[in-house]
Amino acid sequence: MPGHPRTSPAGNPPVLAEPLEVLYEEPGLPCWQLPMRLAAAYGGDLGFAEPCLYANFVTSLDGVVALGHEYRSSGSAISGREPADRFVMGLLRACADAVLIGAGTLRASPTHHWTPVHVCPAAQADFTALRQSLGRPTRPELVVVTASGDLPLGHPALLEGALVATTAAGQRRLLGQLPSTCTLLALGPGPRLWMREVLTAVGARGHAVVLTEGGPRLLGHLVGEGLLDELFWTVSPVLAGRNASHRPGLVDGRELLPGQPVRAEAVSIRRRASYVFLRYRFPRHGPDRP
Ligand SMILES: NC(=O)c1ccc[n+]([C@@H]2O[C@H](COP(=O)([O-])OP(=O)(O)OC[C@H]3O[C@@H](n4cnc5c(N)ncnc54)[C@H](OP(=O)(O)O)[C@@H]3O)[C@@H](O)[C@H]2O)c1
Repeated sequence: MPGHPRTSPAGNPPVLAEPLEVLYEEPGLPCWQLPMRLAAAYGGDLGFAEPCLYANFVTSLDGVVALGHEYRSSGSAISGREPADRFVMGLLRACADAVLIGAGTLRASPTHHWTPVHVCPAAQADFTALRQSLGRPTRPELVVVTASGDLPLGHPALLEGALVATTAAGQRRLLGQLPSTCTLLALGPGPRLWMREVLTAVGARGHAVVLTEGGPRLLGHLVGEGLLDELFWTVSPVLAGRNASHRPGLVDGRELLPGQPVRAEAVSIRRRASYVFLRYRFPRHGPDRP
């Protein structure tokens, strides 16, 4: 992959006051040369094989990803807006051609932008330098998946521009309704989309390195179809608990064990204070059969 000189805007403070501590890293992982301040904060370089689909999630100690539909922006509540987690989120977005999310995640975060700078503005210049060195435009393309077409049409991320992948029913609902910045893509009769077809369509737009930020139901479809290559998982040092509301873990809407075990290998373990940053690799398997 293309490298570039390790430049850092003169006199700029570090992106993180305390960098991530590397506890383990598998030798020989794909490596792009990050701008100096990003490499310093991450504790080394980062890169991806192409094509690649990688996920990034934060969970509580007890494995909760979302607090329930009555709560907005669960990720922020679970991470406590930890700067190191927001930096990793921004860095992973900065590496991606596209960021893929489900409509549930869009609906739950009414003011969010799935851009690197939105979660870590301190690294804006470095993210831009990284993307330039990789030949990527300033921001990754947002891809939203919806079966129903029930989208918040005034959402700022849609106004900024997104690819919306949907079913025939979703297309009927959204035709002429989306902001003109969006591209509507109908990919089959439904009731849901095959994510392999969505990724093929995303790939046809030149996007080889794709980050998914879920949520748990979308991740269930991706894992179920054997499409996920890597998982970046932040464990936040907090207990969320479970009672009446549905509080999913990483994968929702699909049972894997005992019939369909999906095993992964740990390839990197980092730490910042009591937050743990894990990177897992999954073997790809054949297409899911309903
Ligand atoms: N902790 C974290 O890191 C993290 C990360 C992401 C999200 N979250 C949280 O997770 C919660 C949302 O969870 P969720 O599971 O509902 O989110 P989700 O997976 O983003 O959204 C589910 C919706 O996405 C669409 N969808 C997913 N797969 C599809 C497919 N194969 N074909 C067609 N449409 C598909 C459907 O939309 P329609 O209903 O429109 O048909 C489905 O109802 C929120 O609270 C959010 O804050 C947490």
